Amino acid sequence: MSDTTIKQDAAQGRPTVAVVLAAGQGLRMKSKLPKVLHPLLGEPMITYVLRALELAGVNDILAVLGHGADQVESLLGDRIRPVYQEKQLGTGHALLMALPELQASGGGDCLVVCGDTPLLTGETLAGLLKSRRDAQAQASVLTARLDEPFGYGRMIKKNGQIMAIVEEKDADEEQRLEKEINAGAYCFDITWLAKALNELSPANAQGEYYLTDVIAWLTSRGQSVVSYQTPFAREALGINDRLQLADAQDLLRRRILERHMLEGVTVEEPSATIVGPLVEIGRDTVLETGCQIFGRTVIGESCVIGPRSRVVNCRIGDGTVVDQSSMEECETGKDCLIGPYSYLRPGCVFEDNVKSGAFVEMKKALIAQGAKVPHLSYMGDCTVGKDANIGAGTITCNYDGVDKNETTICDGAFIGSNTNLIAPVTVGVGAYTAAGSTITKNVPDNSLGIARGKQTNIIDWRTRFGG
Ligand code: UD1
Ligand code: CA
Repeated sequence: MSDTTIKQDAAQGRPTVAVVLAAGQGLRMKSKLPKVLHPLLGEPMITYVLRALELAGVNDILAVLGHGADQVESLLGDRIRPVYQEKQLGTGHALLMALPELQASGGGDCLVVCGDTPLLTGETLAGLLKSRRDAQAQASVLTARLDEPFGYGRMIKKNGQIMAIVEEKDADEEQRLEKEINAGAYCFDITWLAKALNELSPANAQGEYYLTDVIAWLTSRGQSVVSYQTPFAREALGINDRLQLADAQDLLRRRILERHMLEGVTVEEPSATIVGPLVEIGRDTVLETGCQIFGRTVIGESCVIGPRSRVVNCRIGDGTVVDQSSMEECETGKDCLIGPYSYLRPGCVFEDNVKSGAFVEMKKALIAQGAKVPHLSYMGDCTVGKDANIGAGTITCNYDGVDKNETTICDGAFIGSNTNLIAPVTVGVGAYTAAGSTITKNVPDNSLGIARGKQTNIIDWRTRFGG
């Protein structure tokens, strides 16, 4: 099912509101960071859940926040409407906190998802929504069949009908054998949900208000509850500890790489390649072993991202090669050569055919077409003109201890090896600097700037001093 089909399907129903349960600390993570903010492939866990809801056509998302509410809220900005649960008394209590907003939403039903199930897809959530509507049931539960169901709530059925969900800690031996588990995503009729939530009790092994008890409350009153079983059981993975975090990251990584490979990207060694969920990559680009690409990076066609390269929030033009280099918040034109071992910090913008070679560090460097910085240089706060050549070991001395100052190197300039450019300074069009110069004054167009001690040779020095 394509993204648009999912949206159209959902649009045919009534407006849908969703609730993401995300107030828990995630004790089993043993972390200062709230669980739902732990990154997977560089993006916080909860953003995967939001994306799946958005793909399922939900445009009004409530999030129940508690631990680290400020952090979660500032990160998610206008993608959610926050609701607060001060004390974490259980998933049922968490949803109760969102009830007034749900009732005011005007929708007949709602989706409820845990913030710690990042593998659920929009397609699955759209299927869950549809299953309740088709069956005209009061609730639908997303389930999965797991070979190792330990830790999850079990689906208790009688004659094929769902009766209840029993948590691991409350289950008896026979119930623990059940392999159909609750994936923690539900679709509820809001009116019936409200009645049930108000009557939950914490009389269970964990002393919590379980959202899962809503199911038995409904069925014991003759209301119908259906389930929607995902055929991709691993989608149900809930993250409670760092082992599950690593498993989820591995599954997501593989899923994302498969999408790119099917769209024409070569991935030489998928088990050693990391690509974040928001990255776009053009056809015939090759990802070599060990590269990591994160954030909102956009890579053109026929590029090579070489081994151990790290690319974060960059735009890379067609035909560019990045070899064993690190770059963040940079932009390149077409056919640039980067590396091996370049370190490009935020604010570098390269036009076409630019070279940044071995052991070159740059920051806020605007490099025009065809210019080359081939070896061992630091280029910071500078503009380099067309076809300029920067000799090995050139340093822009951009910081005087107080301010950052600009260096301008004009079109066709030739900077001799081991030049120090004391900013602010300009090297004119077609101008030269002599190797080893410390340039403190502007060099006019087509001139040579030379600023170094004169050489003295002491003749026969070796024999005169007994060497
Ligand atoms: C829950 C389900 C279990 C299901 C599993 C799926 C219950 C009682 N159990 O168990 O049946 O198989 O998810 O992954 O619902 N939260 C709050 N406030 C609270 C408690 C939890 O907002 O007071 C949030 C957490 O931040 C988390 C989500 O609810 O994102 C689930 O809570 P968690 O403690 O992880 O539940 P599980 O034990 O995994
Ligand atoms: Ca969980």
